[in-house]
Amino acid sequence: FPPERIRNFGVLAHIDSGKSTLSDRMLEMTGTIRKPVADPNRLATEEAKNEQVLDTLKVERERGITVRAQSATMIYTKAANDSYLLNLVDTPGHVDFSSELLRSLLSCQGAVLLVDAGQGIQAQTLSVLDEALSRGLTVVGAVNKWDLVKDDGRGEAAVQELSDLLGCDPSEILRISAKTGWGVESVLEAIVERIPPPPPIPSEGENLRALAFDSWYDSFRGVVSLVSIHEGELRKGDSITSTTTGKSYPVLDIGILSPGELSIATHLDPDSRVLRKGMVGWFVCGMKDPKEAFLGDTFHLTTAPMPPLETFKPLKPMVYAGIYPLDPGGFGKLEDAIRRLTLTDRSVTVNRESSSFLGQGFRLGFNGSLHMDVFRQRLEDEFDEEVIVTRPLVPVKIIYKDGTEKTIDNPADFPDPGGLLKVTQVMEPMIRATIVAPDEYMGAIMSLCTAHRGIPISQTYLSTGSTSSASTALKPRVSLIFSLPLSSIITTFHSNLKSISSGFASFDYEEAPYEVSDLVRMNILVSGQKIDALCTVVHRSQVQKEGRDWAARLREAIPRQQHEVVIQAAVGTNILARERIAPFRKMKLLSKQKVGKARLKERNMCV
Ligand code: GTP
Repeated sequence: FPPERIRNFGVLAHIDSGKSTLSDRMLEMTGTIRKPVADPNRLATEEAKNEQVLDTLKVERERGITVRAQSATMIYTKAANDSYLLNLVDTPGHVDFSSELLRSLLSCQGAVLLVDAGQGIQAQTLSVLDEALSRGLTVVGAVNKWDLVKDDGRGEAAVQELSDLLGCDPSEILRISAKTGWGVESVLEAIVERIPPPPPIPSEGENLRALAFDSWYDSFRGVVSLVSIHEGELRKGDSITSTTTGKSYPVLDIGILSPGELSIATHLDPDSRVLRKGMVGWFVCGMKDPKEAFLGDTFHLTTAPMPPLETFKPLKPMVYAGIYPLDPGGFGKLEDAIRRLTLTDRSVTVNRESSSFLGQGFRLGFNGSLHMDVFRQRLEDEFDEEVIVTRPLVPVKIIYKDGTEKTIDNPADFPDPGGLLKVTQVMEPMIRATIVAPDEYMGAIMSLCTAHRGIPISQTYLSTGSTSSASTALKPRVSLIFSLPLSSIITTFHSNLKSISSGFASFDYEEAPYEVSDLVRMNILVSGQKIDALCTVVHRSQVQKEGRDWAARLREAIPRQQHEVVIQAAVGTNILARERIAPFRKMKLLSKQKVGKARLKERNMCV
């Protein structure tokens, strides 16, 4: 395929709008995957379907979310002798996985922006569109789930909102149902007609520059790198060099994702045994150590050195937590699992740490709490690792009187009241949150944000809607901007927002500068002994309530002993809460530590 017959595009949307489902339909319509044969045991009305083919991780299928951006190549035949090579990138919808989104857009010239017909524009529709436009991508708007809204007006309202947002005529917005396949052909046509092809090859003999934007580990072949070919060509047998490490490798195999790995190195047509400029494909080069695979690395031919391509900045972690093996002897195994898993998820930072209570473990940094949760689940699903995760902490900055500054990612390192005398300022990271919801929920949302120490910044009506409409989805909708401390949204904020708005509010955020804050360290003592793994950093206004909650929860989690156990929550010497566990009457032998840890995990105490 010459570049003018190639299209590289992403599918962008707020979470759950149907991106993965649309990808499945496009893969089926282009014959890349077979449509499954109907199961005779199913009702005749239930059509057999491929479901979320690109969501390959168990956690993605279970939770119905996309975590890793996956690519797939397909051939779309528009008419006889009119075929195109489409490189589709399925992108994650959740804010925690935005680094995956940025990475996946590097190889695209355009994007399909999906909006759920029943929901209209949501918080993340706005942020992904900003990202796509700032990269100069051509955006095709589509309203999905048309089967759900039929003629009730919600679909047309969403079309109007989206065309206003994109500044185009409503007739240019595609109306589709990814689930049934209705209208999906028009998406394929629009991709070919509206999204520009990758830039043409300027001259013969152009040298290779390939950008590695994903990689995974295969136990037989080692690292498989996914690259977008920005210049030149890549063939099996070439010798390539990494601009990051300077190491050279022989290319042992090359291929495309269709959506599984498909080698093209032995294709019948010699002209097709190549990854050309504009294509997205994978190569294997005998790289056995995952540490040598860098995302954003540029490869060139060893004989023709080229400067690296400009790439992306890695995101800074925003949430840290300690991760410990449940089995005290399992440190080595856990270390290996974390090393493998971080190869496919480079946004996690890893440092060793130890706790007197939990033993040897790691302090990991994540983009957010969902990201952390998904990582923990992947450790369990893919590596059979049972772990304890300590309560998450955002990176806190301490500025000392002597002018030095320290960023703290572990609550145990936060100064106690005595240590705070040497400190001039404690600062915490803030966010600028966007919440989109029907205006009838504004009051409840304002109260929720205020309870989380939020300050309103602005309020804009997105659509005029109809105040008299019986359907909430047709009521006027507002986009609210709040300044909030990052720490206040990392645990239950999102689920509370969903429940107070009956699921109608959507939420997204971006980083904002640090602000001065009155934070303190709360210690947990069990029978007078400080448990380092359980201490937390809390805002002074909330410390009393947090202390009482923690002491009460721990009383439930710690098993009874032969002696009385006293649980205390304290800031310095100031005891905030106290609970007592009565001793056993009869002697009973217990493996204290093991049972204690297992119970903590069972009750999710640390998270
Ligand atoms: P993330 O990967 O988490 O961002 O979600 P996604 O945007 O990929 O959404 P996904 O394809 O997983 O779809 C979310 C839900 O919407 C699933 O239950 C789909 O079956 C459903 N869905 C998707 N498209 C349609 C549609 O056209 N009609 C209806 N009725 N349901 C749909």
